[in-house]
Amino acid sequence: MNFPTRVKLVDVGPRDGLQNEKQPVPAAVKVELIGRLQQAGLPEIEATSFVSPKWVPQMADNAQVMRDIQRKPGVRYAALIPNMQGLQAALAAPRAQWPDEIVVFGSASEAFSQKNINCSIAESIERFRPVVAAAREHGLHVRAAMSCTVGCPYEGEVAPERVERLARMLKEIGVQEVAVADTIGVGTPLKVQRALQATLAHFPAQAISGHFHDTYGQALANTLASLQLGVAQFDTSVAGLGGCPYAKGATGNVATEDVVYMLHGMGIATGIDLDKLIDAGVFISQALGREPQSRVSKAIRNKRAQ
Ligand code: HMG
Ligand code: MG
Repeated sequence: MNFPTRVKLVDVGPRDGLQNEKQPVPAAVKVELIGRLQQAGLPEIEATSFVSPKWVPQMADNAQVMRDIQRKPGVRYAALIPNMQGLQAALAAPRAQWPDEIVVFGSASEAFSQKNINCSIAESIERFRPVVAAAREHGLHVRAAMSCTVGCPYEGEVAPERVERLARMLKEIGVQEVAVADTIGVGTPLKVQRALQATLAHFPAQAISGHFHDTYGQALANTLASLQLGVAQFDTSVAGLGGCPYAKGATGNVATEDVVYMLHGMGIATGIDLDKLIDAGVFISQALGREPQSRVSKAIRNKRAQ
């Protein structure tokens, strides 16, 4: 089996991980988390989102986070953007505080699109069109996350044809990369491969990433199934933080620690220092008053304590 020799991980913990937290997490803690992730060698970090603070209060400090992070050269900083208002807010800051990449987010299922961003799939594409164009004019990289590519909390199973349709529309408006998301973590490897294959109809493997929530414990298997199709980029979340406020019961993304351990064990390079990453996971988990949701973190910390 030909696996990629190097894989890129994007830590989405500061955004996907924290957006669902009920207790307000101070901006300084988010900034410290981002600093620790970049020191651990993460090549890209999803730092925040410019969404409505009424919908997701936890991300209301987006501008402050983008202002206060001490950027490490070579690291890409991303922000989730739902509409022109979000892009304008992100670009209102001085250039040095802009995200390097924006992530628009659509859904393969209609019901989730309505619940998450309050519009239909077709309307979302029309909202994204000027956002993508303006972001690219400003020299920003544009990624899109496609939610519910295998299952939807409201509609159940999602057919690959719907993923193909969404990928086609995103390609048509100028999106450069897409994340195939299993929002509620119900996917199993062959279903995930079907969603990826539907996406491969419009984007090359190098422009596709996996974004797997680990609700049913399938995310590592789904990551391996993606590697088998040549996908070499994944969104992961330190300490397995997270969930989407509009996907009740869904747990966090697969823990970055667990994916790094698997990849390194397979001889695949990530550039990430697992020990520093584990410490970053402990830092944020302590700030939230809980244990890291990563088996690898737990195993290695038990070993350290011996
Ligand atoms: P809407 O209510 O339809 O928007 O929300 P609107 O344009 O009618 O505006 C209503 C109000 O929101 C106005 O304020 C606007 O100013 C304000 P008011 O006049 O009532 O005071 N507003 C904004 N404020 C700040 N920033 C903005 C913005 N836009 C409007 N950008 C909207 C539409 C998209 C804004 C809303 O539905 C929203 O913010 N949704 C965000 C939902 C979200 O963040 N979900 C979690 C992230 S997605 C995710 O986790 C999935 C992912 O991880 C992949 C996966 O796992 O599937 C990416
Ligand atoms: Mg997500």
